[in-house]
Amino acid sequence: MFHIRPFNFSDADYANCVQLRNSIYSDTPTTVDIWKNNDQIRPENLCYHFFVAEGADGQIVGMAQCAKTNAESGTFSLGLIGRDESWHNGVMGELLTWVKQAAPQVQVNGLVQKIQESDEPKLSFLKSQGFQQIMRYPLSALDVNGFDPDRFTDKLKLVEQSGIRVSQLPAGWENDPHWQKLVHDVDWKLMLDVPHHEPRIKDSLEQFIKNELLHPNGMPDSYFLAWDGEKPVGLTCFIKRGGRTQTVSTALTGVLRSHRRMGVATALKVHSIRYARSIGCHTILTKNAETNPMYQINVSLGFEAKPAWLDMKLAV
Ligand SMILES: CC(C)(COP(=O)(O)OP(=O)(O)OC[C@H]1O[C@@H](n2cnc3c(N)ncnc32)[C@H](O)[C@@H]1OP(=O)(O)O)[C@@H](O)C(=O)NCCC(=O)NCCS
Repeated sequence: MFHIRPFNFSDADYANCVQLRNSIYSDTPTTVDIWKNNDQIRPENLCYHFFVAEGADGQIVGMAQCAKTNAESGTFSLGLIGRDESWHNGVMGELLTWVKQAAPQVQVNGLVQKIQESDEPKLSFLKSQGFQQIMRYPLSALDVNGFDPDRFTDKLKLVEQSGIRVSQLPAGWENDPHWQKLVHDVDWKLMLDVPHHEPRIKDSLEQFIKNELLHPNGMPDSYFLAWDGEKPVGLTCFIKRGGRTQTVSTALTGVLRSHRRMGVATALKVHSIRYARSIGCHTILTKNAETNPMYQINVSLGFEAKPAWLDMKLAV
């Protein structure tokens, strides 16, 4: 027995949902404060919905969050999370029905759920509901303390000799309008070339600052830029996991088309891994679309393959 209701934004709902989420994704825990922050900064035009399933004892056994992938998109990103049994006892099916009932109000044409391909029961559930794989992102992890930067000394020298300089942004840059705008612009140019299942739209500078720089998972000190003279030509940065830096994820590594195949991405990564070690980070996680050369660059740096993530899409 269970019943579905909208999430009520009470402290109890936040605490119970975050606890359930962390019991399932214990490697990358989140916090109530991070969820509350996300709810405060999410633009209203993303048509966000959040439903929870309560068991007979009042415990939350599953949840479904969904929001437009971006304001102009007809596709919703879906976040189904539930205890193991919820995937085959009707809970997830019912949560999905609630999401679909909310969907027509906002002209949805598809729901996209991320799932790790090793998660067989959940994958079977999604396939049985008609979801189909549209993207595959191998996950990889680096043991930061095992990384040997000396292997890349020659490559870094070549990059320098070609006139490209890699540097960390100055402390406190995230509060300086000059740097905020510069990084927002270069980030956008690079994001346009990162494979994704649909067109991206550029966040306003204000939203970028909230989402990336001042977010509790933001890591302004991890931003490294590559410069050709005065021109920024590449960028790499991390985000924290659960507001902490023991494990971080690469948010973006990119190089302008004009400066590719010169070793710039490799140089940026080596600098950022050294930085990660200096702050006591022990693991860096990275997800790349399987056709992206970035995956092989990461492997050559010493990242080890983990089960891939899939984007599974249901046309509605
Ligand atoms: C992926 C990306 C960052 C690589 O940047 P880069 O500076 O060109 O990479 P490097 O010069 O350090 O490449 C190192 C090696 O990776 C391999 N490699 C890089 N790009 C490649 C490509 N397009 N095809 C095949 N191999 C490639 C090569 O082995 C290369 O060494 P080589 O040039 O001596 O043969 C760049 O293509 C990019 O910005 N793409 C768009 C953004 C993106 O998708 N980022 C990753 C996801 S966050």
